[in-house]
Amino acid sequence: MELHALLSYTFFLLFLFVIAGETVWANEEDRKVANGGFRPTKLFVFGDSYSDTGNNPKSLASSWKTPYGVTFPGKPAGRYSDGRILTDYVARFMGIKSPLPYQWKKYGENKLQYGINFACGGTGVFDTGNMQPNMSTQIGFLEGLIKQTVYTKRDLDSSLALVTVSGNDYGAYTASGGPEQGLPSFISRVVNQMGINLKRIHDMGVRKVVVTALQPVGCLPKQTIFSSYQQCNETDNSAATLHNQLLQQAVTTLNNSTKGSSFLVLDLFSSFNTVLKNKGDFTGSLKFDTPLKPCCVGKKGDANCGSLDENGKALYTVCNEPGSTFFWDSLHPSEAGWRAVYLTLRSSLNQIYN
Ligand SMILES: *[C@@H]1O[C@H](CO)[C@@H](O)[C@H](O)[C@H]1NC(C)=O
Ligand SMILES: *[C@@H]1O[C@H](CO)[C@@H](O)[C@H](O)[C@H]1NC(C)=O
Ligand SMILES: *[C@@H]1O[C@H](CO)[C@@H](O)[C@H](O)[C@H]1NC(C)=O
Ligand SMILES: *[C@@H]1O[C@H](CO)[C@@H](O)[C@H](O)[C@H]1NC(C)=O
Repeated sequence: MELHALLSYTFFLLFLFVIAGETVWANEEDRKVANGGFRPTKLFVFGDSYSDTGNNPKSLASSWKTPYGVTFPGKPAGRYSDGRILTDYVARFMGIKSPLPYQWKKYGENKLQYGINFACGGTGVFDTGNMQPNMSTQIGFLEGLIKQTVYTKRDLDSSLALVTVSGNDYGAYTASGGPEQGLPSFISRVVNQMGINLKRIHDMGVRKVVVTALQPVGCLPKQTIFSSYQQCNETDNSAATLHNQLLQQAVTTLNNSTKGSSFLVLDLFSSFNTVLKNKGDFTGSLKFDTPLKPCCVGKKGDANCGSLDENGKALYTVCNEPGSTFFWDSLHPSEAGWRAVYLTLRSSLNQIYN
């Protein structure tokens, strides 16, 4: 590490606080020292279950069923995990509370101060057949609020957007019988639409836009179950690699066309792989012995985590310690998994202050 001594000290403190748990920043002063100018105070979130903290309707979503939320907040609360997810960690990084989901319309003015989460599980940049708002529609919700001057130009100028795309477009493509050889051109359409969306968010006045690269989708338990959770599917991983190469290109072009580096890719592909390979985080405080095996497993065939039979009996099993598994269910990291991923992304997140 060749950091300025003061910065090292600050980061060291940070490190301790992150490890300790709740508080990220030692104090306001440290934050100013570390970050120089831009200090985002609001977070707007668009995307799917990798960032949704409660937008899906209770009647539909597994995220509202037991045993989701068992670690945090202690009961199902709309997150696709046992606890905190990427959104919560990005908010923590910024030193703000996780923004409330858009669907929780009861919030008063004061609750809007940390931004809003528009992300909705199951959605894609295109329609995925689940009736929930696609990303264009989600962005339209913020546009509507800006028209109503719920957020001012100045608010937006001190805002960060987090955008997640974790593959529902591709799931829908395959489910609708899309041919394998058509996948590359479909990937390019998806990324093209992502570029349009990212630019639109920035053009609305949001100062910095952070977008996730696709995680190694072939390593999701949904795929690794076929090898008893031993091996990732490399065919799927190469599709993710193509997506990520195109995304990086699109973002570089966008970045070049704006002053100040306004766009940033959060490389979930590398960070998932690093954590899966290390079977834990780099500090050694989190350990995942069989990292490709989820905590919550459907008992048979199509049974998912959270589903019940007609007598109300669980069609799934849950591990004893969600904190020792990287994945929570067949698609989503556990809180501990997200935490390990977040720890690998922190240095990259620091670039939002450039
Ligand atoms: C998103 O959904 C809206 C409303 O259903 C639809 O009109 C629009 O075409 C969709 N956008 C994309 C990019 O698929
Ligand atoms: C990997 O995934 C592809 C579909 O994306 C599938 O056709 C193939 O059978 C899978 N390979 C293994 C070894 O499961
Ligand atoms: C955007 O540009 C800045 C410098 O202009 C650079 O540091 C950053 O890595 C670029 N980001 C991407 C995704 O190209
Ligand atoms: C973006 O700018 C960098 C350096 O300023 C340059 O090397 C790169 O080719 C540009 N990329 C695109 C896609 O315009």
